Parts: sequence; C-alpha cells; structure tokens
Amino acid sequence: MAVGRRDKTASFRGSRIVVAIVIGVLLGCVIAFLFPYGLFNPAASVQNRRIGKTNFQIGSSSCESSERSKMLKSEIVSLSEKNSELKKQVRDLTERLQLAEQGKDQAQKQFLVLGEQHKAGPFGTVKALRTNPTVVPDDSVNPRLAKILEKVAVRKELIVALANSNVKEMLEVWFSSIKRVGIPNYLVIALDDHIEEFCKSNDVPVYKRDPDAGIDAVGRSGGNHAVSGLKFRILREFLQLGYSVLLSDVDIIYLQNPFNHLYRDSDVESMTDGHNNMTAYGYNDVFDEPAMGWARYAHTMRIWVYNSGFFFIRPTIPSIELLDRVADRLAKQSNSWDQAVFNEELFFPSHPGYDGLHAAKRTMDFYMFMNSKVLFKTVRKDAKLKKLKPVIVHVNYHPDKLRRMKAVVEFFVNGKQDALDPYPDGSE
Ligand SMILES: *[C@@H]1O[C@H](CO)[C@@H](O)[C@H](O)[C@H]1NC(C)=O
Repeated sequence: MAVGRRDKTASFRGSRIVVAIVIGVLLGCVIAFLFPYGLFNPAASVQNRRIGKTNFQIGSSSCESSERSKMLKSEIVSLSEKNSELKKQVRDLTERLQLAEQGKDQAQKQFLVLGEQHKAGPFGTVKALRTNPTVVPDDSVNPRLAKILEKVAVRKELIVALANSNVKEMLEVWFSSIKRVGIPNYLVIALDDHIEEFCKSNDVPVYKRDPDAGIDAVGRSGGNHAVSGLKFRILREFLQLGYSVLLSDVDIIYLQNPFNHLYRDSDVESMTDGHNNMTAYGYNDVFDEPAMGWARYAHTMRIWVYNSGFFFIRPTIPSIELLDRVADRLAKQSNSWDQAVFNEELFFPSHPGYDGLHAAKRTMDFYMFMNSKVLFKTVRKDAKLKKLKPVIVHVNYHPDKLRRMKAVVEFFVNGKQDALDPYPDGSE
C-alpha cells in the first residue's frame, strides 16, 4: 500500500512538473517576443521607448497610450516575476523527484524486510528495532555439527572455544572452571588431533572439523592471529544452524554461568577492553587545537574496543554479515589484527564509498565480565570491589596468562585473599 502511495505521489509530481514547464516555456516566448534583447538590457529599454513612440504616432491619444504602455510594463514585470518563481518551483520539484527516485530502491527493500509500516507513537514511547529476528536454521550447511549442537546446546545457546596444542594447559584450566560452575553447554573446536583426544579423555564436548576444509591448515600450525581469522569463518556455520554462540578465548576463568547474565537484545553483546564507566561505555573526548581560537575544542566520541575474545553473537543477518566482513578483511589484509577489524566493522558509519554494518551492539558490564586490567589495577586494591563475584575473568591484558589464571582461581574460588598479590598491575 505504501508503495502505491509513493507511486501516486510521484506521478502527481510528474504532471505538475510538465504543467510548470509548459507555462515557463510559454512565458519565455512572450517575453522573448516583447524583449528580444533581454529584460535588463539597457539597449532593450531604448527599444521599449521606440515602441512607445510608435504607439504614440499610431494611437489616438498620447495620454492613453502611455497609460497602456505603463500597464503593459507592470504586467510584464509581474509576469516575469511569476516566471522566475515557477522556474524555481520546477527546479525544486525536479530535485525532489530525483531524491525520490534515489530513495525508492532502498526504501522498497527495507519495506520488504520490515513488513508492515507503523505510525510513530506519542513522545517518549517510540523505540527503534534493536533485536533482529534470527535466521531460519539450515542444517544442510553442516549436518554433523548440527547433530552435535542438538546434544550440547541449551536453549540453542552454547560457549565455543577454538584450541590447538599450543594452548593445551590454559584449555585445561578453562574447562575445569566451566565444569566447576556446572555449565553444560560448551564446545571445544579442536584444531588438531591431540587436542581432540585430550578433550575426549577429559569428557569435554569436542568437535573437529573435516580435514578437507582448506581453511583448517591455518588452525593446526597457526599462531594466535591466524587462528583468530579462522574463528570467524567457523562461527558462521554455528549461526547458520540457528545457534547463538558465546565465543570464548581459553585464557578465561568462569566463576558463574554467563547465560544467566546476558541481555540477548543485540546482535553482538561483547566484553570490553575498557576499565571504567567512561572507557567501557563511551564518552565525549574533547580534542584541543588552540590555533583555531574560538573553535579550539573539537568534540570526539570514544570507546575502548570490544574484546573479540569474548562476545555473545545471535544468529541474525547483521551478525553473519559481520563475521563475513571480518573474515574477508582478515584474508585480504594479512597483517591486520582481528580485534581491530572486528571493531572497525562494528562501529564505523557509512560514508562515501563505504556501507557500514547495521548491527545492534551492547557492552557487557565490565565488573561482571572482567578483564585482567580491571582486576589487577582496580578491583584487587579496593576493599568493596574485592568482594564482587564476576561472571568471568579474562586474562587478556597480561602475557603470563597461565600463572595469573591459576591465581584468579585461588583468589575467587579458594578464597585465598593474597593470591593476586605477587603480580604487578601490568606486565614486567
Ligand atoms: C558507573 O556507572 C554506574 C551505573 O551507571 C554507576 O552506578 C556508578 O556510580 C558509576 N561509577 C562512577 C565511578 O561514576
């Protein structure tokens, strides 16, 4: 119905434009006839006087003819004013028609996606769409994985971690913490046989991809960053199968079940690298350029990056588009850092030559989903914050991960109050 309305408006505009153009052309002819040298040409006014003289010679009374010529002149002036006004209207209408044509494709596509149109409600009651619908699950993408997920997932949600033999010891601390909390829905994607065996022998749900998938060569030998690129490719299948994934690095300790602490209202819900309200949730960072004088302060928006090692991603079209965009860029730009790419794709707006992603995002509570900077710089030194029980602690800010992971377990699980003390705020 809305499309019909748009078309009618367009054709109505079209016919008005035609009428306006005809009037304009006719007026132009009249004026061209009366003022062959233009309205504001000094020579033309001489010409006018000559006509006046001719009139004077032919007309019966000089008085009458000068009256008439005055009337004629004022009529012409008003007509030419009308003419320019019409021209302006034609210009406006043409512009609007062009804009309507440009917007039509996009608007129609959106209409098809969103379905029914709504009137806006009263002030303060409107809310934009934030929670996108999930995709229709497609088991044919990977029937073997579909079977595993059916068994492992709870409410179509699960924790997923990638691991190869390089991170075996951390992986053990990782799944021990998950088992201790009693989280059933988690899965290790084994990138080599040894890790697959290791998981099986520890009763850890494990999935190893078919060796024919070319991208897996990266997983077996690759360093941290190469594995990160692979992770976005593999995650896509989970979403296509209709599952929400809580993607987890293995340098993480679980202290509560994270699925009791998610909002599930966004495409991506991520832990932050921020360390306080401002850096985690965003702030106005004023940039000072004194040479600009009165305008020396430029306001900028800043937010510490999302941590691409721990985020919850729902199976929606924007989520899958995000994974594709990140994987594509990581494949093409070999020296790029996956976390930087992940954030750029999530946050950079559309601009000339670039269509930004339209994904809904949410920053997790930085005390509940705690990074190791928050823990070692702030929390452990604050009597009140020390009593917090986070959902997870991610040892992302420190290179001596295994030791600090074990210390985190000692501190939060075994209540050893001085377990964190031997470690400096940062790395040595
Ligand atoms: C940070 O934000 C929370 C929630 O909005 C608020 O309760 C708290 O007081 C803030 N902390 C500081 C230091 O501003």
